[in-house]
Amino acid sequence: MKLLKIEKVNKNYASGEKTLHVLKNIDFCLNKGDFISLMGPSGSGKSTLLNIMGTMDFPSSGSIHLLNTNLTKLNENELSEYRLKHFGFIYQFHYLLPEFTILENVAIPAMLLGKTKKESFKLAEELMEFLNISQRGHHYPSEISGGEKQRAAIGRALINKPDILLADEPTGNLDHETGQRVLKLFRKIHNDFGQTLFIVTHDEEVSKIALKRLNLIEGKLS
Ligand SMILES: Nc1ncnc2c1ncn2[C@@H]1O[C@H](COP(=O)(O)OP(=O)(O)O)[C@@H](O)[C@H]1O
Ligand SMILES: [Mg+2]
Repeated sequence: MKLLKIEKVNKNYASGEKTLHVLKNIDFCLNKGDFISLMGPSGSGKSTLLNIMGTMDFPSSGSIHLLNTNLTKLNENELSEYRLKHFGFIYQFHYLLPEFTILENVAIPAMLLGKTKKESFKLAEELMEFLNISQRGHHYPSEISGGEKQRAAIGRALINKPDILLADEPTGNLDHETGQRVLKLFRKIHNDFGQTLFIVTHDEEVSKIALKRLNLIEGKLS
């Protein structure tokens, strides 16, 4: 089933007198259950594309549809709720909120969507069990390891059962072994939940974790 349809997406930035064409006529579809990696060198436009796919940024032209909704037609208020319901984001840095516990950090997106604290904590605890960080629930981000923080960030991204999990260099800030464990976890998330995943990376080893691989070279997909 076609989930996300990216049609003729271009992204330009003005750079002094010149225009920087970062994305050139990007056309592709993400199907439900896909596990895709997008590889390209630094500066090739990977983060720009991922942000546009997740409605964090707008294309200069072209359209993005999630099922039957044209995401480029939604206003800021509609978008923030849409994002919370439909997308999970994982970045190189965890961006956990330092003044909240790990359990709270994982649960917050569910509460933002109107679930009670009790329901949200229950869902967070189940996920933390799956992610093998349940014993860390009452700690603060500063008290746990880098790998545990990234697993908590994955929990936060999954709690609202997103249609698509978008990850931008998710192991970029981890040592090799910890990174490998996080990559195996993506496989498990794909296998156990049928989660649709899209990972961007400059690292070939990371891109191999996916079932289908795309390349972005000078703003074009191949
Ligand atoms: N807000 C911006 N304004 C101007 N240029 C930008 C902006 N964001 C990204 N760029 C440029 O777009 C290109 C692609 O950036 P990015 O998508 O971050 O690449 P990647 O994630 O593949 O390293 C780079 O040349 C970058 O400098
Ligand atoms: Mg990037």
